[in-house]
Amino acid sequence: MAQQQTALIIGASRGLGLGLVKQLVQQQWAVTATVRAPQSADELKAVTGVKIETLDLDSQDSLTALAQRLSTQVFDLIFVNAGVLGPEHQTAAAATQEELGQLFMTNVTAPIRLAEQFVAQLRPNTGVLAFMSSVLGSVMNPEGNNLALYKASKAALNSLTNSFVCSLPAPRPTVLSLHPGWVRTAMGGPNGEIDVETSCAGLVAQVQRFAGTGGHYFVDYQGQTIAW
Ligand SMILES: NC(=O)c1ccc[n+]([C@@H]2O[C@H](COP(=O)([O-])OP(=O)(O)OC[C@H]3O[C@@H](n4cnc5c(N)ncnc54)[C@H](OP(=O)(O)O)[C@@H]3O)[C@@H](O)[C@H]2O)c1
Repeated sequence: MAQQQTALIIGASRGLGLGLVKQLVQQQWAVTATVRAPQSADELKAVTGVKIETLDLDSQDSLTALAQRLSTQVFDLIFVNAGVLGPEHQTAAAATQEELGQLFMTNVTAPIRLAEQFVAQLRPNTGVLAFMSSVLGSVMNPEGNNLALYKASKAALNSLTNSFVCSLPAPRPTVLSLHPGWVRTAMGGPNGEIDVETSCAGLVAQVQRFAGTGGHYFVDYQGQTIAW
């Protein structure tokens, strides 16, 4: 019998993170999923067989404690999904230091810090490290300027991911910066083009397609390459 595949999903209380957990469990993966507040993660708790862990991505202490608890595990997939939209105004002129610090900590620095912590626990040769980016992080994209600060955070995430990947010794793991589509979640809103299930089925298909290739790719949930 083939070995059961293992995943660590960061930010799984709702939306796409929860959708990824459901999709992977449906495909018989063993899933560890993190949330900030386990006491209120009722939807995640309702998914059979998931191991739930606590992590506030912004907190180094919280990350260190998680790393200690999971130190003996090997993962076929580590998916950093957690993210925030940032302040409502989305303008450089109005942005406070606190707003920018929060946005860039959660969307840029903390995901890479987590990756640095866990990259050695990817399964050798076939493990995949995935980040939830966005097509809005493509610097040539003229759309979504009402989300200017969020766009900048995803471009910065892509850039920091590139630096991180380039710093790893060869052979490098497969690293994906993924665009999930415009999805109907709390963040995507009710007018999103696709539902969570469609997006997550596509995202998991890309993880499986790229496993074992090595290197860094920016693709959407349908496998289309996105310009950096
Ligand atoms: N929806 C879209 O159309 C779309 C498009 C492109 C990219 N994305 C990206 O996809 C990812 C998920 O978005 P979504 O649409 O599912 O949004 P969502 O419904 O707002 O969910 C965001 C998730 O991130 C978690 N999170 C936020 N800050 C965190 C922190 N400091 N530590 C731990 N967890 C934290 C939230 O946990 P709590 O429940 O504790 O707040 C929640 O589980 C984000 O990175 C987003 O930028 C979404």
